[in-house]
Amino acid sequence: MSKARRPPKLPFAPLNDLQHCALSGVDPKVTQYGDYDRQTGEYMIHRPDTPQPWYNYLTNGHFTGYVSNTGGGTCFCDDAQNRRILRTHIHSRPVDQPGRWIYIRDRKSGRYWSATWAPTHNDLKQYKYQCRVGAGYTTISSAYNGIATTVSYFVPPQADCEIWRFEIMNRSKTDRLLDVFPYCEFMLWSQERDENLDAGFKCTDITCDDSVIIHRSMYDFPGSGGGWRRQYACFGSSATPRTFDVLMDAFVGPHNGYAAPAAVVNGKCSNYVNRGGQPCAAMQLPVRLPPGKTRRFNFVLGYAARQRAAKALAHKCAKDKWVDNQFARLRAAWQRHLAKFQAATGHAAFDVPFNYFAPVQSATTLLVSRSIAPSQLSGSRGLGFRDSNQDTLGAVAHQPQKVRELIALLLGVVRPAGDACHKFYPAEGTGMEQGYWDDHLWPALAVGRYVRETGDLEFLGKVLPYWQSRQRGTVLEHLERAARFAERRSGKNGLPLLGEADWNDCLNAYPGAESVFTACLYCHAVREMGAMYEALGDGRNARRMALKHRAMARRINRRCWDGRWYTRLILADGSTVGSSKNRYGKIFIESNVWAVTSGVARGQRARTALDSVRKHLGTPYGFRLCVPPYPDYDPTVGSISVFPPGMKENGSIFCHTNPWLVCAEAAIGRGRLAYDAFVRLSPYTKNRIQSYHCGEPYVVSQMITMPPNKQAGRARNAWLTGTASWFYVCMAEAILGVKPDYHGLRIDPCVPGWKSFNIQREFRGTKYDISVNNPQGVESGVRSVTINGKKIRGNLIPVMPSRRSVKVEVLMGARR
Ligand code: GLC
Repeated sequence: MSKARRPPKLPFAPLNDLQHCALSGVDPKVTQYGDYDRQTGEYMIHRPDTPQPWYNYLTNGHFTGYVSNTGGGTCFCDDAQNRRILRTHIHSRPVDQPGRWIYIRDRKSGRYWSATWAPTHNDLKQYKYQCRVGAGYTTISSAYNGIATTVSYFVPPQADCEIWRFEIMNRSKTDRLLDVFPYCEFMLWSQERDENLDAGFKCTDITCDDSVIIHRSMYDFPGSGGGWRRQYACFGSSATPRTFDVLMDAFVGPHNGYAAPAAVVNGKCSNYVNRGGQPCAAMQLPVRLPPGKTRRFNFVLGYAARQRAAKALAHKCAKDKWVDNQFARLRAAWQRHLAKFQAATGHAAFDVPFNYFAPVQSATTLLVSRSIAPSQLSGSRGLGFRDSNQDTLGAVAHQPQKVRELIALLLGVVRPAGDACHKFYPAEGTGMEQGYWDDHLWPALAVGRYVRETGDLEFLGKVLPYWQSRQRGTVLEHLERAARFAERRSGKNGLPLLGEADWNDCLNAYPGAESVFTACLYCHAVREMGAMYEALGDGRNARRMALKHRAMARRINRRCWDGRWYTRLILADGSTVGSSKNRYGKIFIESNVWAVTSGVARGQRARTALDSVRKHLGTPYGFRLCVPPYPDYDPTVGSISVFPPGMKENGSIFCHTNPWLVCAEAAIGRGRLAYDAFVRLSPYTKNRIQSYHCGEPYVVSQMITMPPNKQAGRARNAWLTGTASWFYVCMAEAILGVKPDYHGLRIDPCVPGWKSFNIQREFRGTKYDISVNNPQGVESGVRSVTINGKKIRGNLIPVMPSRRSVKVEVLMGARR
């Protein structure tokens, strides 16, 4: 046994390393599964047996999939609920099955293996592996038995399909006769139908037409008026298959399992077609490879509304030239995307995520919203109103047009009364679950941020519908109605009522509870609206908003200050949640950080509130949502107390809240503390605790389990989380201090005394090359700004649309 390097210990881990690994299923000998490639920005995974599958999202906005580092995952076209294409099992063991697999079989010896390690799981002493996770693609390379393979999975920008670009090379000294077997499983369009095996058997209709496997099973589409429909998924190859399979029973066999499917064991598929059964796509592609020779195949998995179109798609998209062109376009598009905003601070924990995966994750979250994820495959995954509004914040610098469209869509589900549908299914035009009374306040942030990015003040006057109503109103009127809703639905203390819950979905108190968080969010929203009115030159309404802010802030400060921090809820009977008087849930992060960011808490009180957060909620890997966690169900706080202590909202590091803390610290100019909070959360930090963290160390997760849970440190739900957007916002706006404003770009860094750093930022069509110097090592404060050699007053760089590139020099230090 090789001498093991011990994983770094979490100071609070209640388990020893071996116990931890046994619980997490992690090999205790392995502490490092991959690392960042500093040249390309990609993440390189060196071992396929990661503690849990490490995923990547592939999407062109219509066709979307996620793929693991061993080829697992699923995909759908437009609608994850009713147009799901690949099957993936959420509870399978081995995990992550089935997948987009490519088996390779040596015809002479009969040995076989897989290009993605799974599902054959060959001995890693002989099987060499590397995986590159990049923006919009995952590439897995293997070497085994003298044969090297590389497969890249990506979704082309210009077609509704995914491509598996596959190369196979003979590295041995003899001629090799091989068979390549690509394999995947179709599901019956929706999770619900797929889990009804009988319905599947009856409806399955799959065929092989002109070398293209076409899945055309009918199903009754919700909203199709009860009628049955056909839709088409196709699987094609750049080479003509010798044999094929379209039914799982024929390819896998009822008892073989994926590691040894019947067709691969026997060296050929069955060419058997029958209607009814469980659909799959498999092909046998023979290859003869002399030593040193490489052969290329392209596999296409796509969607079309007609059979002929499906066939044409598979034929067109399998061509080498088309595939290479699309891959080049995809990479170029991401390069352009990333080049819009880059930073060089010299600090890897910041630069590495900022320049690559953080904007990639934000863009992905914006496009895919809370659609299906590896941990949440159920059908009912629509747009979350508050989530999607927040998603816009981290993506608007790169995709203002998409953000505009999304905001307009979201405002259309605001009801005439001012509240909004909590969840919304754009494909079906349905919405559900009113009663989350923070929801309607988020658009003020999204709209304000969008207009400050683009200068598109006209958007504020755009007329949009209200939900299920003939009434229409401008964007600003939608925001006004939302603010009025919060004012009208307020409790005895004049704070907005909680309703079902606020941002913390799981804090469900009895009716009549008032939310300190929502009150702070309200203050933030009316302040944003005041700035909008000011930008429009409407001083009267700007002052009206300032008065609203002041009145609510006064109420919060008078009624919700517990002595060292802000409380979280005032219950109908006047008692509080989030107070030192409570036994559990004494302090919550949300109300404290938002009190500071919204300008409710000022001066010493703001500092004290954040100091309390640090003291009571701080851990080396982020800040907990609340402590002490609730040990058991407590109906006064509702479902938060259903989770085991240390899990999810019940006292985990609920990562979404951590960038808020960074923003709050920056709002009061504490650069060192802002950066400290940032570093604890940064995926770069998690890269050092891979075997504890278990999740992807290149993107932020929704939560990290905390004690008393024994798996403290374990992350869950990466990728599609509100953490993504705010993580980017806290870096871009709070730390670098690049703050788009209505009439220019404000520069207001808040740093841990960095002496100099550089920022490249595209803003309204102009590239700004910003050098920041900080000879005194201050944490905040701009002393002077020079634009192309000329000093300006203040720190607002005016809009310079006609310039191609502008050189900005910022000098930090105490203002003179
Ligand atoms: C989940 C929900 C989000 C909510 C958060 C905290 O991430 O998607 O809407 O704010 O949990 O409860």
